[in-house]
Amino acid sequence: MCGIVGYIGDKNAYEIVINGLRRLEYRGYDSSGIALYNSELNVCKTKGKVEKLVKKAKKNISLEANIGIGHTRWATHGEPNNVNAHPLISNNGSLVIVHNGIIENYATIKNELIDKGYNFKSETDTEVLVNLIEYVQETENVKLGKAVQLALSQVVGAYAIAVFDKKKPDEIVVARLGSPLAIGIGESEMFIGSDVTPFLDFTRKVIYLDEGQVGVLRNHKETKFYEISNDSIISPNIETLELELSEIEKGGFDHFMLKEIHEQPKAIIDTLRGRLKLNKGIIKLSGIDNNLNKFTSANKITIIGCGTSWHAGLVGEYIFEKISRIPVEVEYASEFRYRDPIINPNDIVIAISQSGETADTLAAMKLAKEKGAFVFGICNVVGSSITRESNSGTYTHAGPEIGVASTKAFTTQITVLYLMALKIGKAKGIISNNVFNKYLAELNLIPEKIEKSLSFNNKIEEIADQIKDSTNCLYLGRGFNFPVALEGALKLKEISYIHAEGYPAAEMKHGPIALIDENMPTVVIATAKGHYEKVVSNIREIQSRKGKIIAIITEGDKDVKEIADYYIEIPETIESLTPLLTTIPLQLLSYHIAVKLGKNVDQPRNLAKSVTVE
Ligand code: M6R
Repeated sequence: MCGIVGYIGDKNAYEIVINGLRRLEYRGYDSSGIALYNSELNVCKTKGKVEKLVKKAKKNISLEANIGIGHTRWATHGEPNNVNAHPLISNNGSLVIVHNGIIENYATIKNELIDKGYNFKSETDTEVLVNLIEYVQETENVKLGKAVQLALSQVVGAYAIAVFDKKKPDEIVVARLGSPLAIGIGESEMFIGSDVTPFLDFTRKVIYLDEGQVGVLRNHKETKFYEISNDSIISPNIETLELELSEIEKGGFDHFMLKEIHEQPKAIIDTLRGRLKLNKGIIKLSGIDNNLNKFTSANKITIIGCGTSWHAGLVGEYIFEKISRIPVEVEYASEFRYRDPIINPNDIVIAISQSGETADTLAAMKLAKEKGAFVFGICNVVGSSITRESNSGTYTHAGPEIGVASTKAFTTQITVLYLMALKIGKAKGIISNNVFNKYLAELNLIPEKIEKSLSFNNKIEEIADQIKDSTNCLYLGRGFNFPVALEGALKLKEISYIHAEGYPAAEMKHGPIALIDENMPTVVIATAKGHYEKVVSNIREIQSRKGKIIAIITEGDKDVKEIADYYIEIPETIESLTPLLTTIPLQLLSYHIAVKLGKNVDQPRNLAKSVTVE
């Protein structure tokens, strides 16, 4: 995810673009950059955040300009550094572009352009796009708007772009497909943003560019919009903004946590993109591809992490053992680092972390490396310390997670673990092509099944109302859903401050059952193929002690539906994939309880998003 900003008009473009970038920084902060034109093109970019860019720009470029574009980057193609930072300039030095999205066929286009004599400084797909536009502009002898349109019709992928030509600095051309782009309309001035926050201070008039549309934005002259596919001119709707800035920053959701819960279908699509290739029946995961022998010959995998990432690791244990038949141990990073763990040759340590900065996980990785382990990182934040410390690894592509309670990080971590286990299981010959393909097909359907699970939000809110005043809560699950019970309990604890415990359902009778009474609700995950009858027996044991049951069940269930006090359905899938679905109602339940109790959902007391101290 990246943020793009642009301005053309009579005001100082630098101030507007920089403030816009500050507001879009939640979209990524691997690098930032700005391009301004005032008799010459001035480009300044830097690895890191907008404030670093401000310092660099003040020292190095003229800040006087009436046209400018800017970018804050969450790296996809190419490591985050000054060269890969946007804006990117075309070979003839005339076109400058910012881009949010991924050009999937960039490698093919790049090779064609190289054959035509083009050269590339960065590893980005965006530099390919700006050169393709330049090539079309020169060979077809067309204006920039037309060149953008023709170039984009050759492109496969997602984009929101803003591009201008220093030879004709009275227009900015924008286009979008799959990535958002908003245009603010002022008096003789135009604003561009990935969302409306960059221009909320200046105008309330906005056009949300539609999929597959191009706009040629001019300050004092007529602005033009048309379809990329067929040239037809369009008159877009001009809407009036009524929202407050703070609301829009959360994408219209009341809290970042709720927004992030709802982002999970997209986050998983992003995690699977370019990796799960359904039609080819393959998984591409370069971190594994490059080290496949190590994984197929591994004697043992130790997964380390903290909090939610540790819970994802526990799901990973079940997945790896089932699909790739490798023994797995899951360790709290904080314990691992202070034990004297036994690491043998051929052992692999997988470190899981959303932030990539968790001190305990980082220290545990260093210890594992000292002991000779091959350390593989699963991380969300590009270029973070844990990614640098890993021998190899893979990103989750969940996008920035701002709410302190981790949600989309958890489901994308599990998604990556499935991809890894499936790839290794197939390479080892543990699973047949048929089983492998069935998993791929089901995994591919998970985003829409999560969407369906999210549609029960209102019902979950009503259940939250019924149990919000409890002081204790028990979460039970078995097999693949035992770690989900732990995660459900953690979510409730950290944002509502209600004491909650997660247990394997069968362990209840060894102690926790003593707590059951009419004041203690129990959330039970009772999926159709997850030791169903045994979990039903647990439910009956709780009910005979007057305990209230909130059951997470599979669509089509009859028995638990009849006996539970409340139930929430999830769509059917392969049992080992159910954690990706059963997690959703538990996140929503905690969220609604915390909101009803008036807690600070996004910034719960005593917690921080990234725990960089012991
Ligand atoms: O960034 P990490 O995944 O390494 O963070 C680990 C934990 O601090 C984190 O999961 C924490 O438990 C969350 N607040 C849970 O919602």
